[in-house]
Amino acid sequence: MHVLVPKTRKEIFETLIKGLQRLEYRGYDSAGVAIDGNNHEVKERHIQLVKKKGKVKALDEELYKQDSMDLKVEFETHFGIAHTRWATHGVPNAVNSHPQRSDKDNEFVVIHNGIITNYKDLRKFLESKGYEFESETDTETIAKLIKYVFDNRETEDITFSTLVERVIQQLEGAFALVFKSIHYPGEAVATRRGSPLLIGVRSKYKLSTEQIPVLYRTCNIENVKNICKTRMKRLDSSTCLHAVGDKAVEFFFASDASAIIEHTNRVIFLEDDDIAAVADGKLSIHRVKRSASDDPSRAIQTLQMELQQIMKGNFSAFMQKEIFEQPESVFNTMRGRVNFETNTVLLGGLKDHLKEIRRCRRLIVIGCGTSYHAAVATRQVLEELTELPVMVELASDFLDRNTPVFRDDVCFFISQSGETADTLLALRYCKDRGALTVGVTNTVGSSISRETDCGVHINAGPEIGVASTKAYTSQFISLVMFGLMMSEDRISLQNRRHEIIRGLKSLPELIKEVLSLDEKIHDLALELYTQRSLLVMGRGYNYATCLEGALKIKEITYMHSEGILAGELKHGPLALIDKQMPVIMVIMKDPCFAKCQNALQQVTARQGRPIILCSKDDTESSKFAYKTIELPHTVDCLQGILSVIPLQLLSFHLAVLRGYDVDFPRNLAKSVTVE
Ligand code: G6P
Repeated sequence: MHVLVPKTRKEIFETLIKGLQRLEYRGYDSAGVAIDGNNHEVKERHIQLVKKKGKVKALDEELYKQDSMDLKVEFETHFGIAHTRWATHGVPNAVNSHPQRSDKDNEFVVIHNGIITNYKDLRKFLESKGYEFESETDTETIAKLIKYVFDNRETEDITFSTLVERVIQQLEGAFALVFKSIHYPGEAVATRRGSPLLIGVRSKYKLSTEQIPVLYRTCNIENVKNICKTRMKRLDSSTCLHAVGDKAVEFFFASDASAIIEHTNRVIFLEDDDIAAVADGKLSIHRVKRSASDDPSRAIQTLQMELQQIMKGNFSAFMQKEIFEQPESVFNTMRGRVNFETNTVLLGGLKDHLKEIRRCRRLIVIGCGTSYHAAVATRQVLEELTELPVMVELASDFLDRNTPVFRDDVCFFISQSGETADTLLALRYCKDRGALTVGVTNTVGSSISRETDCGVHINAGPEIGVASTKAYTSQFISLVMFGLMMSEDRISLQNRRHEIIRGLKSLPELIKEVLSLDEKIHDLALELYTQRSLLVMGRGYNYATCLEGALKIKEITYMHSEGILAGELKHGPLALIDKQMPVIMVIMKDPCFAKCQNALQQVTARQGRPIILCSKDDTESSKFAYKTIELPHTVDCLQGILSVIPLQLLSFHLAVLRGYDVDFPRNLAKSVTVE
């Protein structure tokens, strides 16, 4: 956060800590801040670092224990940085947490989201120059490297942003970085490559511009030595963002908007290799090479997100709130897109590319975790409606296999955050091979939404709980809507299309009906929560429900859980069945009903005691059930939206009963921006 309005140290702490808490869902094993450490008496600036293992709350408590921190001191201008970590290199502890520093005097400090792949070489080089490392992190090399560049500068008046420019020339991997230095008091420099970074702008006064022109170096730069000799166009008022009349403006740098939305909804999304600097209350952006988008300026955008959307309200956890939001989130996904009168669907972000998509060789749908499950869940209906071959792929495996991709393929990238590194890399891989790329994300301005040729925003509203719930159902619906749009002209498919569109219309009401089963599911959780394992079995349209249900259970209850394709039961999983093993079977009135009955017989014949998720009118399955959860019936290809909700609720109740923090499952993070 960079402020140019008088603030006390306490206010600065509070803003930084609140921001971190809003980002905590991204990682929460340790946290730290760096702020100006001077007080009235001490003229010379120094940077105070406070870092703590554990959640942000622990850091917050630690801050107030620091004797040296006079909370009432007021700063005219101040730049503070803070970070919450999800460990990639080095165990979670205070030393490994960020900010990382250049030296014992904290001359340069840096926070980092991402992973530096060549850090070992850099570290070796820096160690050979006498720099001593204290942590096991890749990030510390960045802090030392900037000091190295500073110590070896050729002119005294080198700018902070030039130092950062030279540093990032040496970095490989992914990063969003924010730097602070005692040599540049009150100045901020931030940059990104591969990891998201945005700048929030708050001012009571009119801003000098709504578009910040990007400055480029005047000549092509090959290596660090040459950079030293090049000059950048001078900064003047027209190349900076500031409030008119030199009035105060505050800048907030963050990985995502939830950290800053309570201060401002006006944001600038940085592009890869942009270097943004605030000096004298003015923000400027420069880069060495032209950007991929070739946009010569960065616009200030207004976000629609509201603070209330990222608060828990009356719910005990974000996950619970998000499960219960599904009647609305699902409606919002369809709003303005599905016309129930004319039975048509219009996805504005895809309409210009529809012809090209219809001509393609095949559709490849790529994602990770829950987003991958949304692809599995809709594969069959996409095959039916588009009459194209549809491949569904886990991004990491897709890349590992060097999967052949052709110019006439259309590749979909499903990602709630729009930042998952594996999915982003798969996107770049497909782009390089000339395929048309389509993003299906929940985050405006995210890397995936910006780098794809076209896309669909799922409009589910911010999802904070690490275990994804409402994003899944909205991704599901987005993909179904795409299928409907593709099949608009197919005469033979009209009845089917109308049936699905009618199904979509009634979904919000049916979801409410499923949610009213919450108490019953809580009672079921009371019976199951001491178990070690839980199997979830089904097939056809509901195989994805089983995978997704089992993932929810694993993620937040730490019970072993497996989603099993009922068709594979006899090829292995049947060996697990006995009268102790809890097994949930999803049996719906769809084309697989009879086959599911076979599986049910196979389970009960081995003394299994299945808990069956079935349709309300299914008298057959309930005869063999140890327990049933009866769900409203909808069209077969949408049933998975209703059948996954009891499993979301079950995992939530199991986790609470087992005493775990639902929104902060151990070892996981919401947005995994490393490979
Ligand atoms: C992480 C999260 C999962 C999520 C997956 C993909 O593993 O913990 O909940 O499903 O990433 O995330 P994305 O943002 O790409 O949908």
